[in-house]
Amino acid sequence: MATATERIFTEFKEHSVAEFFKKNQQMLGFSGKTRSLTTIVHEYVTNSLDACEEAGILPDVTITITELDKESGKYRIVAEDNGPGIPEKHLGKALGMMLAGTKFHRYMQQRGQQGIGASGCTMDAQITTGKPIKVVSRYDAKRITCELSIDLKSNSPKVMNLVKEEGNFGSGLRVEAEVGDVKYDKSSFGVYEYIRRTALANPHLQITLNSPEGEKFTFPRSSNAIPPRPVEVQPHPLGLTTNDLIDFAHRERECRKLSSFLQERFVRVSAAKVEELQGMLPDIDFNKKPADLQWHEAERLIKAFSQVKWIAPSTDSLRPIGKEQIEKSLKNILAPEFLAITERSPKIFRGGIPFMVEAAIAYGGGAGKENGGVKTSEIIRYANRAPLLFDNSGCAITEAVREIDWKRYGLKNFEEEPMSVFVNLSSVYVPYTSAGKQAISNEEEILQEIKNAIMEAARDLQRYLSGKTRERDRAERKKAILRYVSQLSKDLSELAGKGTPEEIEKMLVRLIETKYSKQIEEGEDEKEEGGKNGKIEEEEEIEE
Ligand SMILES: Nc1ncnc2c1ncn2[C@@H]1O[C@H](COP(=O)(O)OP(=O)(O)OP(=O)(O)O)[C@@H](O)[C@H]1O
Ligand SMILES: [Mg+2]
Repeated sequence: MATATERIFTEFKEHSVAEFFKKNQQMLGFSGKTRSLTTIVHEYVTNSLDACEEAGILPDVTITITELDKESGKYRIVAEDNGPGIPEKHLGKALGMMLAGTKFHRYMQQRGQQGIGASGCTMDAQITTGKPIKVVSRYDAKRITCELSIDLKSNSPKVMNLVKEEGNFGSGLRVEAEVGDVKYDKSSFGVYEYIRRTALANPHLQITLNSPEGEKFTFPRSSNAIPPRPVEVQPHPLGLTTNDLIDFAHRERECRKLSSFLQERFVRVSAAKVEELQGMLPDIDFNKKPADLQWHEAERLIKAFSQVKWIAPSTDSLRPIGKEQIEKSLKNILAPEFLAITERSPKIFRGGIPFMVEAAIAYGGGAGKENGGVKTSEIIRYANRAPLLFDNSGCAITEAVREIDWKRYGLKNFEEEPMSVFVNLSSVYVPYTSAGKQAISNEEEILQEIKNAIMEAARDLQRYLSGKTRERDRAERKKAILRYVSQLSKDLSELAGKGTPEEIEKMLVRLIETKYSKQIEEGEDEKEEGGKNGKIEEEEEIEE
């Protein structure tokens, strides 16, 4: 008779990453009908933008959504771009294999970083409608047309009905997916809002949405400047764990010595730095092959890294949106009454990963969220210019806004203010809380920097709001005094026995007018304001 152990382990099986995500689709953002549709659009749009930027092309993207069956929530989604296309050799894996792509292994600021976005959509199509996706890839005077699905058991692509044509077809990718259990709506979590926000942070993008209701929305580009191509950077020693160092060392094929490996594969490691490390660790052989590096040696190297002085990593890899572009976009789309933008200098998290925060506060006008005729505040979150619409509460940006004491900036209740707080985090690696890439994890350095950026903008807003309040008070005081002028002029004329009441009234009015405009010129109120701001800075700004 079989033992209990034997019985249990007859059930032992291996599974592929595709099977894992099939079972845990919610981790990829496939949960809820509206969210699932937005996720698909998000994955295709971010891929198009990444591809265009890397190829130096001004992106032109069209998303067409058609309702096929209302009851089962079946829709057709077509995403088309003018990017570089995908070569035949890589097409299957790019769209039909999980954890495959050009981004996961590189330290480069791009929207995608995992290699599961597009293949996740392929999987969603096949498990909700049983249909493969249809692909057209144009590149290098070729056009490849095929159907594609994933063999979930082995996480490998199945390419069907492939047709290859030669000729001048330009370049770009077109993906067509039929998916079930989704819904198109105009909510703040829907595709329209996603595309609107994408346009807001990507002024060089031209994007069109053909909705299932037959409407065509085009967000034209407001800038013809192609953003500089993202550059790949090497990791900084301070950002490494022992496990990372072992991984890099054991994968090394070119450098023959540990000393050259350290210099070639990581930034800021000079020959002098290697010598310094060698002096600290005399029993480690720096001439050994990187592949022979042992765990305990790597552990000591990592510790030594934290004990020597380093030049901070280069921040050339960061591609922020830029103050001018943010201003242009927010003015265009929100037309606020007041706008403050802050662009912080690059900072480092986890010891070695550069990042940068841009923040803006738009107040009044079209800013804020319309809520049953009343305007409320909204937070517009981005990571590497890609909108984050979901998982609001678990995100460092939301947390930063929550931690700010808005009363200090003259706002009684943040929730009820007609304002939009805009934040974009740029980094070669964004620490998302899940594979669905909708929330940034609460890393201490990131959270603090987001807070500082928003507070900087909030100080400008406070200055504007207190100016507005003073202006209103002044106008009211003036109005109150003017009310007595007519009676006073008559009394004065009678008492003095000189001048007509009309003449005196004219003079008095002139006096009041000059008195109140004079207050502004003399900047009396500026003094009062300076005092308030000084206090905020002292209490709140925390720099590293
Ligand atoms: N529109 C496109 N044009 C050119 N290449 C593309 C396009 N879409 C996808 N690719 C290629 O396919 C790969 C896989 O895309 P996928 O969305 O699955 O992963 P990713 O973008 O690398 O990371 P993430 O999972 O975070 O989105 C990409 O890395 C890219 O090389
Ligand atoms: Mg992607």
